[in-house]
Amino acid sequence: RTSRRWRALGSRCACLCWSWTTPTCTSAAGSTSVNRPTRGKPMSFSALFSVDSAGACFSSCSPKVCIVGSGPAGFYTAQHLIKQHVHVDIYERLPVPFGLVRFGVAPDHPEVKNVINTFTQTAKHSRCSFYGNVNVGKDVSVQELQRAYHAVVLSYGAEGNRTMGVPGEGLAGVYSAKDFVGWYNGLPSCRQLSPDLSCETAVILGQGNVALDVARVLLSPVDMLKETDITQPALEALAHSQVRRVLIVGRRGPVQVAFTIKELREMVNLPGTRPDMVEADFDGVTEALKDLPRPRKRLTELMLKTALQTPGETEQERRDQASRTWGLRFFRSPVEVLADPERHRTAGIRLAVTRLEGSGEAARAVLTGDVEDVTCGLVISSIGYKSLPIDQSVPFDSKSAIVPNTMGRIKQAPGLYCSGWLKTGPTGVIATTMNNSFDTARSLLDDMESGVLDLSAAKSGSQVITALLEQRGVKPVSFSDWEKIDRVEMSRGEASGKPREKLLTVEEMLHVART
Ligand SMILES: Cc1cc2nc3c(=O)[nH]c(=O)nc-3n(C[C@H](O)[C@H](O)[C@H](O)COP(=O)(O)OP(=O)(O)OC[C@H]3O[C@@H](n4cnc5c(N)ncnc54)[C@H](O)[C@@H]3O)c2cc1C
Ligand SMILES: NC(=O)c1ccc[n+]([C@@H]2O[C@H](COP(=O)([O-])OP(=O)(O)OC[C@H]3O[C@@H](n4cnc5c(N)ncnc54)[C@H](OP(=O)(O)O)[C@@H]3O)[C@@H](O)[C@H]2O)c1
Repeated sequence: RTSRRWRALGSRCACLCWSWTTPTCTSAAGSTSVNRPTRGKPMSFSALFSVDSAGACFSSCSPKVCIVGSGPAGFYTAQHLIKQHVHVDIYERLPVPFGLVRFGVAPDHPEVKNVINTFTQTAKHSRCSFYGNVNVGKDVSVQELQRAYHAVVLSYGAEGNRTMGVPGEGLAGVYSAKDFVGWYNGLPSCRQLSPDLSCETAVILGQGNVALDVARVLLSPVDMLKETDITQPALEALAHSQVRRVLIVGRRGPVQVAFTIKELREMVNLPGTRPDMVEADFDGVTEALKDLPRPRKRLTELMLKTALQTPGETEQERRDQASRTWGLRFFRSPVEVLADPERHRTAGIRLAVTRLEGSGEAARAVLTGDVEDVTCGLVISSIGYKSLPIDQSVPFDSKSAIVPNTMGRIKQAPGLYCSGWLKTGPTGVIATTMNNSFDTARSLLDDMESGVLDLSAAKSGSQVITALLEQRGVKPVSFSDWEKIDRVEMSRGEASGKPREKLLTVEEMLHVART
């Protein structure tokens, strides 16, 4: 299918391409063979866009695409496109790449971050360039990018968070999981968060994998964390934390949790902690097991075992010695964060008791009219991330907080595509993001092949954009600049026995990049 695609594109481009040959342009592909298109004889795409022996090249008409955002979606989209001889420039708001792989994935999950190796290969490919420190929508508009490229792919993720919409949400002691995670992972905008960990009980609202990441970080022994790339200020704050009990609260039941079994198992086995569940929450769950799909069944069995079974001797001994507890609480929806009238900070949370209407994963939580107050000094709302609009010219569905699209093609915006969490909403692991990004790249390539995307004019690409940025006083960070930051972080980490010690401010990152 691929070769048919490029034969079609090759023959369409051949008649346009020849006249654009310019002796001054540089080879992106690095090839030196002479490949002149011949009328009537379709050429492969790679043959078409190579360089002749005099150094002249045909790459001035090779498609130029730019990608906004360098998280998994940006890199996987780029990976698929460069394989098909497209030139890709990636624009990233921060001076450092990799999005949530750097700023979201938990510090004690280093194996997940291995995807960075693949992304690095993509970034170093001769047809790919990285421009960090460029905030699209502010430093350069999407329309300016569209004029400079044949197509633009928006992959800027979901940088906002859903809010509970309850009174007291703004009190001191209430944090979004997005900010809390950003704080312990070194996201520059969350550096000042300094969460107050002087209370005994923390309540996390939401029962997804992010909620479990946060619970694990709050309760992990500091000796475990200090071998990770968690930031030094977070490590110090956690070393002095008074939090001994973490409740992870869901509005629905055990059969509807959003977290997965690996992450639950990590909680169950977390050294120094014991589970604390409410037996009644599991009424009827054993009977429901037989109808559940296999992954959900295994997850539910682990929850049941943890909540209801009497542990063996060794496990009982481990639990008896534990000084910290964690518990899942079900059928509870946040109504109000309660304030300590003297200190104007969180003193507890009022939860509405719910019951399920319907069954299985689609069951809905409805309020029973009862409420329950839980005393706590820390509330972390982990009810999901949310994409935000970055440019008025891009269609945005503010209700579902995504860019409306069909298979990655942004509706009513020819030449504009999207991938990753911006395309699907803020769910899915990196592998899911990879697949949806490859799908977007395929849509884009199909549009090139079918002529939906106009490739007839050569595009200036980064040349015009970097000139615009320079006029505006914006200095992009290249991938080799990022590698300088990387080296400094690794060597600082080595000095303290960590895999890396992240730089915490944009200023420091830029300083290192430019020295
Ligand atoms: C806390 C957390 C932990 C996770 N842990 C795991 C895990 O362990 N395993 C797993 O498989 N998945 C995990 N995931 C899911 C995974 O991170 C996502 O599937 C993936 O990161 C989504 O990729 P993305 O590229 O769409 O978004 P992002 O990773 O958010 O990347 C978006 C990029 O766009 C950039 N950007 C934003 N605005 C602009 C702009 N205006 N101009 C230019 N650039 C911009 C951002 O700086 C960022 O680099 C986790 C998610 C979260 C939230
Ligand atoms: N280790 C990993 O692999 C890892 C780690 C972190 C994140 N991730 C992935 O990243 C994605 C995002 O994770 P996430 O935890 O942010 O989101 P998520 O998986 O969508 O979970 C969100 C949770 O918030 C609840 N919620 C939503 N709105 C609510 C409201 N108004 N009131 C009360 N509760 C509400 C949901 O309950 P309902 O179901 O009732 O709506 C759900 O329990 C997921 O796909 C996740 O798997 C993976």
